[in-house]
Amino acid sequence: MNTTGPIGIFDSGYGGLTILRSIQKFLPQYDYLYLGDNARAPYGTRSFEVVYDFTLQAVKCLFDQGCSLVILACNTASAKALRSIQQNDLPLLAPHNRVLGVIRPTAEAVGLLSKTRHVGVVGTSGTILSRSYELEIRKMYPDIVLTAEACPMWVPLVENREFNSAGADYFIKQHVDHIMSKDSEIDTLVLGCTHYPLLMDKLNQFIPNQVQLMPQGEYVATSLVDYLHRHPEMEQRCSKQGQTRFLTSESPSRFKESASIFLNQNIQAEHITL
Ligand code: DGL
Repeated sequence: MNTTGPIGIFDSGYGGLTILRSIQKFLPQYDYLYLGDNARAPYGTRSFEVVYDFTLQAVKCLFDQGCSLVILACNTASAKALRSIQQNDLPLLAPHNRVLGVIRPTAEAVGLLSKTRHVGVVGTSGTILSRSYELEIRKMYPDIVLTAEACPMWVPLVENREFNSAGADYFIKQHVDHIMSKDSEIDTLVLGCTHYPLLMDKLNQFIPNQVQLMPQGEYVATSLVDYLHRHPEMEQRCSKQGQTRFLTSESPSRFKESASIFLNQNIQAEHITL
């Protein structure tokens, strides 16, 4: 209880690096341990039970590595596993540790951004089918009309580093056109998947001018700043040397190569079996 450790950041693959980057910008003083379950990514088309099992394994692994606070930097895991882990597993596993997700902080920010009160959300099939965004946004902003669109091909485009290729255009335009045809008054499009910020350049080519894209990193990061303020008992358990380590269930050399592109810096990674 008195020992300190890094803040754990978990994603199925590389997408959570977009969240890590924002968190590091706002909170550079802390240590971070990033875990990408690259060997089993993507999670987006997997069943509730499988995403829950994989996410619980990842959370246990990060706890074993000394993290007291874990951020699920993955919408699919946040949608399908967070609540069960918080309510059922944590009290037995590590009652003093905490696990936070990315959907709530994003939903909180939506209401402050949209003027037309027509909002779109794009995400993996798992996130969209869970209706987590709908439920969270309705609780806080009942006046918002939310239209959701599952984009199952977008994560594979990112994981396979095809996000800037000509082939990506077809899949991106297809879903942008489709969601806008469902509600042409949308003025804010939530990128409800941590992989999607890598598609920003392409998305900007295809979204209508009046639509603002809403990547989540900044909102998750400011919400963490606020959380650490309100919970000094957790803040004290986070080590502060400004260092980051990377773990992957895939090959470290493969992770290192891709992660370096996403983060714009050279990193080292270690293999871990989940
Ligand atoms: N980046 C993740 C998300 O935010 C998951 C992508 C996947 O593994 O399908 O949903």
